[in-house]
Amino acid sequence: MRSTGTYVTSTTLGESVRAFVPNALLPSAPALSPESFVVPNREAELALARLAGVSGLVPSVDWLLYGAVRKEALLTSQIEGTQASLADLFDEEAGFAVSNSDDVEEVTNYLRAFRFVQGSLRDPAGLPVSVRLLCEAHRLLLDGVRGHNKQPGELRRSQNWIGGTRPGNAAFVPPPPERVPELLSDLERFIHAQPEGGLPPLVRIALVHAQFETIHPFLDGNGRIGRLLIAALMEHWALLNEPLLYLSGYLKQHQAEYYRRLSAIRTDGDWEGWIAFFLEGVAVAATEAERGIVAIASLVAADRRRLLAEPKATPASYRLFEMLPMMPRFSIERVRQSLNTTFPTATAAVKVLEELGIVTELTGQKKNRSYSYQTYIDLLTR
Ligand SMILES: Nc1ncnc2c1ncn2[C@@H]1O[C@H](COP(=O)(O)OP(=O)(O)OP(=O)(O)O)[C@@H](O)[C@H]1O
Ligand SMILES: [Mg+2]
Repeated sequence: MRSTGTYVTSTTLGESVRAFVPNALLPSAPALSPESFVVPNREAELALARLAGVSGLVPSVDWLLYGAVRKEALLTSQIEGTQASLADLFDEEAGFAVSNSDDVEEVTNYLRAFRFVQGSLRDPAGLPVSVRLLCEAHRLLLDGVRGHNKQPGELRRSQNWIGGTRPGNAAFVPPPPERVPELLSDLERFIHAQPEGGLPPLVRIALVHAQFETIHPFLDGNGRIGRLLIAALMEHWALLNEPLLYLSGYLKQHQAEYYRRLSAIRTDGDWEGWIAFFLEGVAVAATEAERGIVAIASLVAADRRRLLAEPKATPASYRLFEMLPMMPRFSIERVRQSLNTTFPTATAAVKVLEELGIVTELTGQKKNRSYSYQTYIDLLTR
């Protein structure tokens, strides 16, 4: 059996535990066998290429990104246990009251962290993929109520453990804190090195994610930062130039296997099993995202045809309609501001769309009404 690391004795909470220190990438003795990944890698790359292509079905890729980026943010936060929904996120953006604002904050923090990383990597003068970049992302992720006592932005200084009630019965004890900086430097070096042996980029991303989770460099948020790194490297290594994929949906759906496969790298030396699971996940998630885009494109096209056939349609109602995919919940006031128009004009525009059944009013009240492009939200939530 391949060895993927060594055990060292570490102390935490007065207990002596065996902490796992992973070997630097690449897996060796034996090296990864290409037979284990060539076919699933080709399928995953094909699914990603199709996903990139299908975005041409809508007039603006921003529409699709609006939903996809929020969906990934939501799903990755749900793995952690957040209870927010997409509608909560849209409500918050619309300025409506949300009951679970801590949950929503967790999701919007992820969005901020993701945008920061994406912006840095797109900017030639920005931070490269690096420990510093990940620490800055972590600071944004754990900003606010829930994260403030989890050392946001800092590598951990204590021994942690995963699963179990105490270190002694943990499923996994990551490396001692003093080893974390050197292990992360190794990982950083691997990310920037010329790919050895023609290893495909998706396989390298699979290796990087698992290695990151095994190092578990932060007190909390390791899963979310590790998944953010997947999304960032997908773009950085030109697999998908816009973040249209929401892989966290697959990982959430297969959470037990996700954790089991990560553990098996350590316990059985099974890198191949993890890589196969990861590639399968990319292929499935990309195909799902592609179907979602086709469905959204048809919904919007059908609604647009109905609006075009409506004699009472106004210029403002057309402009409002084109905004809906990026503003699926709104008040009249939000419409007035977005269209930079008067209250009566905004009200009339909304009324046209409401009478066509494209948007629905949610409160049933006369004042402070809130509207929803509900069929679209339902498609995104599906
Ligand atoms: N047995 C394991 N071996 C290695 N890594 C694991 C194992 N079990 C879980 N993990 C990783 O640890 C993550 C959880 O760590 P942590 O709580 O720090 O992250 P999080 O972002 O707060 O939570 P979550 O990932 O649940 O959203 C998991 O998502 C997974 O990536
Ligand atoms: Mg956590």
